[in-house]
Amino acid sequence: MGLKALVIGGGGREHALVWKLAQSPTVEKIYASPGNPGIANIAECVPGADWLAVPADLTVVGPEAPLVGGVVDRFRAAGRKIIGPTAAAARLEGSKAFSKQFMTGAGIPTGRAHTALDSVSARSHIGDFGYPVVLKADGLAAGKGVIIAPNEAEALAALERLPAGPVVIEEFLQGEEVSFIALADGERFWPMEATQDHKTSGDGDTGPNTGGMGAYCDGRIINKTETAHILDTVVRPALAAMVDAGTPYTGFLYAGLMMTADGPRVLEFNARLGDPETQALMHRLDSDLAATLLDGEPFRWKPDPTVCVVMAADGYPGEVRTGDVIEGIDTCGASVFHAGTRIGERGLETAGGRVLGVTASGPDLQRAIDRAYWGVTGIRFDGMQYRKDIARKGLKRW
Ligand code: AMP
Ligand code: GLY
Repeated sequence: MGLKALVIGGGGREHALVWKLAQSPTVEKIYASPGNPGIANIAECVPGADWLAVPADLTVVGPEAPLVGGVVDRFRAAGRKIIGPTAAAARLEGSKAFSKQFMTGAGIPTGRAHTALDSVSARSHIGDFGYPVVLKADGLAAGKGVIIAPNEAEALAALERLPAGPVVIEEFLQGEEVSFIALADGERFWPMEATQDHKTSGDGDTGPNTGGMGAYCDGRIINKTETAHILDTVVRPALAAMVDAGTPYTGFLYAGLMMTADGPRVLEFNARLGDPETQALMHRLDSDLAATLLDGEPFRWKPDPTVCVVMAADGYPGEVRTGDVIEGIDTCGASVFHAGTRIGERGLETAGGRVLGVTASGPDLQRAIDRAYWGVTGIRFDGMQYRKDIARKGLKRW
């Protein structure tokens, strides 16, 4: 009898996971909760959060909120198989202050930082690391709790805008950002290929930070030596320290790295797969995802690089307009993962900030870029916006 899988979430990351699981010969049926209209074409979407009631043999959790809320603990207590960290382990993402303390304790390379209990006590440490300075609010903030202030006046003003609670004041690091994700079962781990996200809304890395405007996966982002170095200095010590702390890490561990002149530095840990990184990763993954999740088979990757361009709604990352009709997905020639979409009276329409992830691969990075953008030009909705330079920074490696 085939396997029944449940994917929790309803964004582009979850659409990509469902799309990949659907290709597995062992997977007979997929549920998604809540899912989205794109996922509904290949899986049964179940509303609500009574996930234990879904008859799944294997559950994969996409977003951080259910993880921090203890969904893995509840599934394990019920004897059900689920991929993700416990609530205690998910604190690596849930609290910037905890995460910084953890990295320092485990000797994991990260930016120098001071954690202040509140924004008032942060004032006297604001200049500790020079300028620009990075200020991080403590809790989950969907990528929007980080402020980079160019000078003291702006840093002090920014403190006023941060939510109440601890503030991490961190040295500003320079370099290229790399998303490095590994699946872990406590002690063993299965590294995925490196990806690069594009965090800001504008071309050339300008404008405000977003959840991610596009990503690419390409075997040339980091070389073998750099990969080994990241495994030795970040992944292994992180997993060992989690075991020592009595909270072994299971599930996808995402290290957001800055590749500085002095080597990789961890900017943040996430307790989950990245989005849009996962769209590029699943498109490029050659091996059977279910076989890794169930039996620990290693990941195997296609040689061709993959590019995912996010199409966002008018106003994103601020207040967005919704309800615009989306056309052209079926004929655009690329793999299109849905995020903020819904079925309205006039058919498929926009329903959120990041609307679609248009994904394609090619025999070289330039052709993968061209194919993804060719797909983008086939799709339209009023107010659509997207970056024109996704993956361009990777071309220098070809
Ligand atoms: P985080 O949520 O900690 O990953 O921060 C979000 C984004 O802010 C990162 O992806 C970086 O682009 C930027 N950032 C965070 N920390 C630093 C740092 N120490 N130096 C430079 N940029 C940073
Ligand atoms: N794309 C960044 C993240 O998923 O956190």
